[in-house]
Amino acid sequence: MAILLSTKANAMADWRDALLECDPSLDIRLFPDAGDPAEIEAAVCWTQHDMAELRRYPNLRLIVSMGAGVDHLLRPPGPPPGIPVARLKDGRLTTGMAEWVLLNVLRFHRQDLDYRALQAARTWEELPAPETAERRVGFLGLGELGLAAARACAALGFPVQGWTRRPRAIPGIETFHGEDGLRAMLGRTDILVCLLPLTPDTRGLLNRGTLALLPRGAFLVNGARGGHLVQEDLLAALDSGHLAAAALDVFEPEPLPADHPFWAHPRVVMTPHAASITIPRSAAPQVVENLRRARAGEPLLNLVDFSAGY
Ligand code: GLV
Repeated sequence: MAILLSTKANAMADWRDALLECDPSLDIRLFPDAGDPAEIEAAVCWTQHDMAELRRYPNLRLIVSMGAGVDHLLRPPGPPPGIPVARLKDGRLTTGMAEWVLLNVLRFHRQDLDYRALQAARTWEELPAPETAERRVGFLGLGELGLAAARACAALGFPVQGWTRRPRAIPGIETFHGEDGLRAMLGRTDILVCLLPLTPDTRGLLNRGTLALLPRGAFLVNGARGGHLVQEDLLAALDSGHLAAAALDVFEPEPLPADHPFWAHPRVVMTPHAASITIPRSAAPQVVENLRRARAGEPLLNLVDFSAGY
C-alpha cells in the first residue's frame, strides 16, 4: 500500500526524504503520479490539493493535512466522508510562530518603525522609553500556537491576556471568553495578536467595530488567516491614526495582488505567509506514527474536530 504526497512543488522532495528517513519501507507516490488508485492508503497533502480528487482512492484510510490550520478542509466539498483527517502539531511550527509574534511585538513595543523612519531622514532623536510592564498584549486564540506565543511574551514581562471560545484558566495569563469578554479584552489591549482558527464564527472578526474597541495607538499582529481581517477596515483604522501599525503574514487572497495598498503602506509590515513554515524533518515522525496507528486500528494523533473547525 502507498502514500500519496501532494504539496507545494518546492517542498515535495524534502517531504518524501523526511518520510523515508522515518520508514525506508514506505511506498511514496508524488502527486499527480498516484499509480493504481486502489493502492493509496494515506494522503498527505496541503491546501493546494483538491479534496474532490481524494474521492478517487477506494482504500484511503487516513488523510494528513500538512499544517496547523484546517480552514481549507472546511470548505466544500471537504475531505471524503468517513476518512479520519489529522493535522500537524509540531514543535518547530509552534516555535516558529512564537518567534514571528515576538519579532513583531518587540518591533512595535520598541518603536522600530519610528526609528527606521528617523534613520531614513538621518535624524538623531531619542523617543520616550517604552515600559514593558505597561504594554498589554492580547491574544485572540490560545491554541497550540497562540498559547506558546503568549507564554513567550509573558516570559519577557509583558502583561498578557487571551480570549478563547470556551472559558479557560491559564496561570500567568488573564483569560476572557464570549462576546463580552472580547469587548473587555480589546478595550485594554495595546498589541493585539490574532492566532485563531478560521471558522464561520471567526471570519471577519477583525473589523471596523472590533478594531474601534482597541485603544487609540494600538497595534495589530495577524499570523492566523487573511479571512479573520476585513482588510479595508484595517486600512481605514491605520489611515485615521486609530491604529498605529500592523504586522500581517496572511491575506485574502494570497498572494496579495501587487497593487494592494498594504504593500507600500508605511505602517504595515508584511511577510508572505511565512511566519511559521512546516519543516518536513520535524513533522514527518508524527505522520509515520499516524500511519502505523491507522494500520493497527489504534487511536490517531491530532485528529481534526470538524464540528469545532480545528
Ligand atoms: C500555515 O498556515 C499552517 O496552517 O500551518
